[in-house]
Amino acid sequence: MRIMIREFHHIDLTARNSFRVAQRAARLVEFDRADDLGRLFADGGPAEWYLLGGGNNILFTRDYEGTLLTPVGRTIERLGEEGDRVRVRAEAGVEWDDLVAWAVERGLWGLENLSLIPGTVGAAPVQNIGAYGAEAKDTIESVEMFCTETCNTLILDASHCGFGYRDSVFKRELRGRAIITAVRFALSRTPQPRLGYGDLERETAARGGATLRNIREAVCAIRRAKLPDPAVTGNAGSFFKNPAVDRPTAERLLARWPDMPHYPASDDRVKLAAGWLIDRAGWKGRTEGRVGVHERQALVLVNRGGATGAEVTAFAARVRQAVLERFGVAIETEVNIL
Ligand code: EPU
Repeated sequence: MRIMIREFHHIDLTARNSFRVAQRAARLVEFDRADDLGRLFADGGPAEWYLLGGGNNILFTRDYEGTLLTPVGRTIERLGEEGDRVRVRAEAGVEWDDLVAWAVERGLWGLENLSLIPGTVGAAPVQNIGAYGAEAKDTIESVEMFCTETCNTLILDASHCGFGYRDSVFKRELRGRAIITAVRFALSRTPQPRLGYGDLERETAARGGATLRNIREAVCAIRRAKLPDPAVTGNAGSFFKNPAVDRPTAERLLARWPDMPHYPASDDRVKLAAGWLIDRAGWKGRTEGRVGVHERQALVLVNRGGATGAEVTAFAARVRQAVLERFGVAIETEVNIL
């Protein structure tokens, strides 16, 4: 019988969270497949556990007393083809961008706009990662998961995943009850460029037109220009979500700030750009102590070196308060805070 891959006790998490916060976990178990989880949860499992993928969307504010579970399965496989549709399965521990590169190399469309998003495949459905006019839900066909209550593995069809803007059933009803072990995608051989967002069309044209490779390179270039590299500067991407406000609120704000970016959202609401709100509240590039707002993208908070999670959350609360005072709009965190 195979045994669990690796188990650590009292482990330093600095290298396992992109904010580079120096907290510890009482226990961390790396698992490969659902079988491993079956053994771990056979007798009820750990009293407290949390799924830690690449640690790219998390902020530890204290030592974690329970068990962190980290997927390490890294297989990508083609499941089948039907017409121009190619079905692909990737295990939860695959680096997201390795999957995007794999698809682009094989001429498969659907993931290219999501190039260079840090994190693992298993984390992608949880917050329905998105960028440049695309979201993970556009290509996810189903999600394989281990149910910690029944110890069964099941495949949840995308239509049952409750996908929304940075949201899914895994953040809600299934939180703490399901562990994603693999994700299945439906990709396309037929070109379907989506260049409507920001500078993407121009950056793609500058590279010679809308091929898969050019779109991927354009997205990577835009991201590298705007976002801090977590290998160099601790951060967790967008710290805040873009808020959705009701129409009268949006109209009131637009009357005063006509250049305010705004996009139609569901339920007759209007989505605003949190980055713009923070920027215009005067906080872009501001640093207090060891935490700051990134110079080129106000949505991103950065660890200037040695910051604790508590310092980051205290700073984030001040940013939030500044936006609230200036615009009357409450922005919520996108990063998971533990
Ligand atoms: N803006 C400013 N100042 C700033 C930042 C933004 O004025 O400092 C303005 C921009 O000029 C633009 C608008 O705000 O008009 C929107 O900004 P941007 O296009 O940079 O994207 P975003 O809405 O701020 C979202 C995602 C990013 C993703 C980009 C690109 C969220 C919370 N964030 O940011 O995702 O890369 O779109 O599609 O939805 C992440 O989740 O970690 C992440 C980086």
